[in-house]
Amino acid sequence: MSANVESERGFRDILGAEAESLERLVAAARNHFERYGYRPIILPVVEPTDLFARGVGATTDIVEKEMFFVSDGHTHADQLGDLCLRPEGTASAVRAYIDQGFDKSDPLQKFYYSGPMFRNERPQKGRYRQFHQIGAELFGAALPAADAEVIAMLRTYLESVVSAGRFTLRLNSLGCAVCRPEYVRRLKTFLAANRDALCEDCRRRIETNPLRVLDCKNESCRAILREAPHLTDSWCEACKSHFDSLLQRLKTRKVDAEWDQWLVRGLDYYTRTVFEVTAEGLGAQNAVAAGGRYDGLVELLGGVPTPALGFAIGVERLALVTGANSVAPRPKIFLASTSETTRTTAEQWADTLRRELPAVGTSVEVWTDLGGQGLKRQLQQAGKLGCAFTLILGDREVSEGKVILRDMKKSTQEDIELSIESLMRRLRERLGL
Ligand code: HAM
Repeated sequence: MSANVESERGFRDILGAEAESLERLVAAARNHFERYGYRPIILPVVEPTDLFARGVGATTDIVEKEMFFVSDGHTHADQLGDLCLRPEGTASAVRAYIDQGFDKSDPLQKFYYSGPMFRNERPQKGRYRQFHQIGAELFGAALPAADAEVIAMLRTYLESVVSAGRFTLRLNSLGCAVCRPEYVRRLKTFLAANRDALCEDCRRRIETNPLRVLDCKNESCRAILREAPHLTDSWCEACKSHFDSLLQRLKTRKVDAEWDQWLVRGLDYYTRTVFEVTAEGLGAQNAVAAGGRYDGLVELLGGVPTPALGFAIGVERLALVTGANSVAPRPKIFLASTSETTRTTAEQWADTLRRELPAVGTSVEVWTDLGGQGLKRQLQQAGKLGCAFTLILGDREVSEGKVILRDMKKSTQEDIELSIESLMRRLRERLGL
């Protein structure tokens, strides 16, 4: 026997209850977001690296340390790095938005997407190299009402899939192109004066990405940062009133949110509002969703200046919060047969039931024998699958227009009429649909 081929570290097979839970979360998000007018967008997994270097920021961890590069098989050594696996969806959505010319003709657009993202991080609980996001991006809306709607949409979605109270939504404003440069200048001066007391990462970031220093988790850096100039004090009037209005709107809409003036986020494109949702019980990787406004990104990537904002949810992390058990098992029925003739009849009835049963609202799994098994084995299989009922199509019963309904738990049987009305009525009664 040849050696097994194993999957790469940080890349997993997802199946069983976890796969069901992930799919359910994506389907519920689609349903929820569409009620706010969002439409699907399917974005490429491979993108030019430059899109993220320019969009997310060349000095961010994501671009500097975590990219997976792709070769098309003809790539020269000096081109390796031109293409990458997408680490996130926002820059791609912006590229698509500009490519379609929406910025010029039809700026208000609402998109949602879901799919795998790739980051070369150290794998641990809740952190993978291939993970899945559900994202939503709203273009062409500058007012705080848009921020409030996006945050409310995220919060109500999360509450619809997990019982309330387990999430904390924190938000902040990073200022805008008018007020932030002055703040960054003041912050740099402060950090440079305290350089020797900062950790190595922070020292490096003084020049490359000083705002990120505010986010350092290192206790000794945190102690120094308590004295740092406050971002809040540098907000211009427009940023201040945008943030105040957002807080007010969230309050009116009864959306729980806390202001955290240390929240900065790890991607460079944000302007003004940023937010992050954390959940209890996830350990170090406790951010289940995050997002913010990126009013400068469309222009930065070559489009007509367009305000925009959005968020992305980490689906694996959300599934850890909801718990795989939250997926209710679907009711199952088995159509067993006793001969070649009734096997064909069973297949036809199975198709009919698969067509008719969704009308009652719950998805029911309908199984038939695919292994040419005798009746005893078919009943064993039905029991193992956890079927509530088996319909046994015996030759005699079928010729009399009947079928045996076997209750798998009680092991009781009764003859019922083999007609769609009678089957649907009995199954509905028995399955409690
Ligand atoms: P992000 O904070 O980099 O933002 O990622 C969003 C979410 O993706 C995180 O809160 C987390 O739940 C999940 N996530 C990130 N990395 C991993 C990983 N290695 N393993 C598992 N889950 C992970 C963005 O990606 C922005 N594009 C969000 C956004 C959309 N901003 C505006 N629009």
